[in-house]
Order: sequence, then C-alpha cells, then structure tokens
Amino acid sequence: MDTIQSATLSEVNKDFLPLNGIDFVEFYVGNAKQAAHFYKTAFGFQSFAYCGPETGVRDRASYVLKQRKITIILTTALHPTSEIAAHTHFHGDGVKHIAFLVDNATDSFHETVKRGAKPYMEPVTKTDKHGSVVMSGIHTYGDTVHLFIERSNYHGEFLPGFQKWESNYNPEPVGLAAIDHMVGNVGWFEMNKWVNFYKDTLGFSQLMSFDDKDISTEYTALMSKVMQNGTGKVKFPINEPAEGKKKSQVEEYLDFYNGPGVQHIALSTPNIIETVTELANRGVEFLKVPTTYYQELVKRIGHIDEEIPTLEKLGILVDRDDEGYLLQIFTKPVEDRPTLFFEIIQRKGSRSFGKGNFKALFEAIEREQELRGNL
Ligand code: FE2
Repeated sequence: MDTIQSATLSEVNKDFLPLNGIDFVEFYVGNAKQAAHFYKTAFGFQSFAYCGPETGVRDRASYVLKQRKITIILTTALHPTSEIAAHTHFHGDGVKHIAFLVDNATDSFHETVKRGAKPYMEPVTKTDKHGSVVMSGIHTYGDTVHLFIERSNYHGEFLPGFQKWESNYNPEPVGLAAIDHMVGNVGWFEMNKWVNFYKDTLGFSQLMSFDDKDISTEYTALMSKVMQNGTGKVKFPINEPAEGKKKSQVEEYLDFYNGPGVQHIALSTPNIIETVTELANRGVEFLKVPTTYYQELVKRIGHIDEEIPTLEKLGILVDRDDEGYLLQIFTKPVEDRPTLFFEIIQRKGSRSFGKGNFKALFEAIEREQELRGNL
C-alpha cells in the first residue's frame, strides 16, 4: 500500500471542483414503494419527500428517505419504454445517480466537460414557489452518473417537483449518520482509466492503493485504488478484478450487473454495536467470518474499547492503522442479483479501509459465491 499526501497536492492545484459532499444517492429499482418500505423498516430511514402521479409527474414515482446526513431516492418507472425501466431490466436494482452538493452547478458542469467528462445533463434551473435549484450532470463508469446540485436559492422540502412525504409508518432510525465512501466496480484493466478520470476530470487525488498481493485469497483477487476529492469529503475506491484460480467477487458483480456500477455504500455510525444490533433485529443479513478471526483479534489489534465477545456475536470486524482503529461489517447483497451491498463503519481515528480484514472478508464472500454457484 502506498499513501500519497493528497492535502499537499490539492494545495498546489486550486480545486476547480469544490464539492460540499454527497447531496443524495438515487437508486433505480423495480418497485420503489416496496423498496422504500424495506429501507424504512430494515435500515431505519425516515420518510422525507415524494413525487409521482399525485404530484403531476407522469413517468415515474420517487421516494426520498433520510437518516441524519444520508439522503437516498428510490425511483421506479411507470411505463415500459422509459429509460428507468431499461436500466432496471438490464442492471437490476442499483445506483443511478451520485449527486454532489456544489456552490455552482453550471461551473461544475463546464469545468468537468472541458476536462473530458461526457455530458449527461446540461445545466437546468428548476423552479417552484420555494425557489430554484440548478442541476447538471456527467457520466462516470458504466451507466452511473454524477449530478451537480446547487440549492442555495431553494427553501423547499427537497427539490422542485417533490412534496413532503407524510407517512403514519415511521420506524425509529438505527443511528446511521453519513456516507463514508462509495465503491465502484469497473471492468478488467479499467481501474487506472477511471482513476485518471477522477484525477483529471474531477480533480480528485489518490489516497491509497491495494494490489492483488493485498487483496487475494487462495482463489480470487482484486485491485483497488481510493480516490478522494480536494475537500476530503468524498471518497471513491475503484475496484477491478484480478486473475485468480476462480472467479472473483468483482467479476461476479460485473456478470450480474451487466457492467460497471456501485458495489457498496459505506454508512457511518457513532455506535456500531447499537446500530448493527438494531439492523440485525430488523432482518438485515450480514457476512460472517469464522470464530478464529476473533481468537487472533487482540494479538493483531491490541486494546480496543469494545468487548470482543460482543463484536464476535454481531460479526463486526476491526482493523488498526497508525492513526487509530475502525470497526466495520458488510451486509449480504440487498437484491437477488449479487450486486449492491452496504458496509456499516465506525471510525475511531483510522482513516483507512480495513485492509487487515480483506482476507477474512473475501473468504466469507467466496463462501456465499459458492452457495450461488458462481465461484
Ligand atoms: Fe468499504
């Protein structure tokens, strides 16, 4: 692993694309009404806004859900000819839009397109009685898109066209607080192409890299580089498959998603034990590592605040670096296709990604792949 001083790099080159964070993540799904119920019931998201036929939108229904700083939109097609229907037919449920909050969506579009980005949406101003929002967008890997959202002149609930979603079914939140990072799976030998895209077109820098020596088991391998924007608020690891004895998890993803896309979204919590206990009680399924992992844990990690038997019972993993430690756990895929899953993460000083857990984790994923007949 090599670490590059991203701060120094971004000080030298003025940030031409200042991002204030991830505004929202929009999923295209087969049945948004049922998906919204799942994310409320299982993941503790709160009803926030809605658009659909009742609000004058004829081609789709979108449910906006929130938990602390995390906003997700679940969108479904109402007609077979829409591009949303084509997307879910081809990819299954998955992430379509990763939207950045920016001060100026027009500049963001022109600065990135000038540097080679493929336009997706020219800057448009959407207005209602609560003000106006400027939106634009560019393509990234696969059919995934980055939107730029400028909302400083908007005082409505979410975006023009949406209305507040009043629901009398409101399960409690589970303590999820923010998006820590989002990982993209790209095709064979395409990692550096997309690393360069984030570097040259969006002004990101490389935070760290993992090669197949870091991330391999007896059977499969992958390579990964972590890209971070100038403000450090957005982190996107990019994975590509690497040659192994059997089919890697990235290849399985690419086969079932039919190309590159978002592999996992890491959501942070200030108390992973409480959050994971609650998620498990609500039926969220997590990957489990063998009990031997916990027998070796103290030797590898040293002292931590949490009790090992509690972590073992829940299946929470721990890793340490120079700056501190982190606790993390991964769900099984949240669709029938083995594609998108979630990570739950609590950072206690560490800013890395759990390299020490890769082997145990990937062996757990391989056991699942084997059950699906895809190893
Ligand atoms: Fe992750």
